[in-house]
Amino acid sequence: MSIQTLSLRSHAPSRCYQAIIALMTLACWLTALDAMTITAMAQQEAKPQKPTPPKPLTTYMGRRIALTMSYHGIPWLNRSERIDEERPAELLEQLQLKDGMVVCDMGCGDGYHAFQMAPKVGPSGKIIAVDIQPEMLQELSRKMKQTEIHNIDTVLGELWDPKLDPESVDFAYPVQMLSAIRKSLKTDGMVALVEFRAEDPTVPIKPEHKMSKAQAKKEFKKNGFKLVREYDKLPWQHVMFFARDESHTESEEESKN
Ligand SMILES: C[S@@+](CC[C@H](N)C(=O)[O-])C[C@H]1O[C@@H](n2cnc3c(N)ncnc32)[C@H](O)[C@@H]1O
Repeated sequence: MSIQTLSLRSHAPSRCYQAIIALMTLACWLTALDAMTITAMAQQEAKPQKPTPPKPLTTYMGRRIALTMSYHGIPWLNRSERIDEERPAELLEQLQLKDGMVVCDMGCGDGYHAFQMAPKVGPSGKIIAVDIQPEMLQELSRKMKQTEIHNIDTVLGELWDPKLDPESVDFAYPVQMLSAIRKSLKTDGMVALVEFRAEDPTVPIKPEHKMSKAQAKKEFKKNGFKLVREYDKLPWQHVMFFARDESHTESEEESKN
């Protein structure tokens, strides 16, 4: 079984959109080439074009997408008050991690949760820590050298692509590309979404960094997930567990864009 955890903000480009961008790029190249070069190129085997990344979304299904938190915020992520505000040990217990699991910590930052999850999956399991800021991963690696923990692999993802192998993950701790995360999940894998509660005005976090349960359910359903479990006792956050909904079809996925 695999688990991924993260706070996912859904943003998956449709394949059709990627294909159009790739063709446009190719057209610009051709105008810059002379006929001889084109003939020579035509005789060579065609190389696959690297798709141009789509423009990041600013809203998704009615929700404003927050800007990425900079690595300059590392001290805030490691503040001592976080233990009372978020009760990470209680969250860890709810994840029910087991020896041998492959857990993706999506948007891992400098590894606040990854370092707590790593001992739970043991040497036969591993944490795949994904982030889009190299500085976050460098800090995680620096810290790992000072510990006895060696089962965290770092992966530099891209905003729209977590760079995970298909069906490789038991559990994901989530962010912004639900469709790609779904593909990375094993059949019995799960996503744990941990989000600041938008419904609760006493949670002292900016609105764009919060999410309501209704919004999370809407976004996950659209991307082929079903809600399987919830935990509501953390001081500031919802924890929602989503599994793949095998009745979901590709056409539903395409219609979300
Ligand atoms: C608020 S920080 C949380 C870090 C860590 N999970 C923690 O709880 O301490 C969010 C992290 O998500 C990363 N992030 C944002 N969008 C991402 C994406 N599409 N894929 C992977 N990481 C992403 C950011 O770079 C940032 O390090």
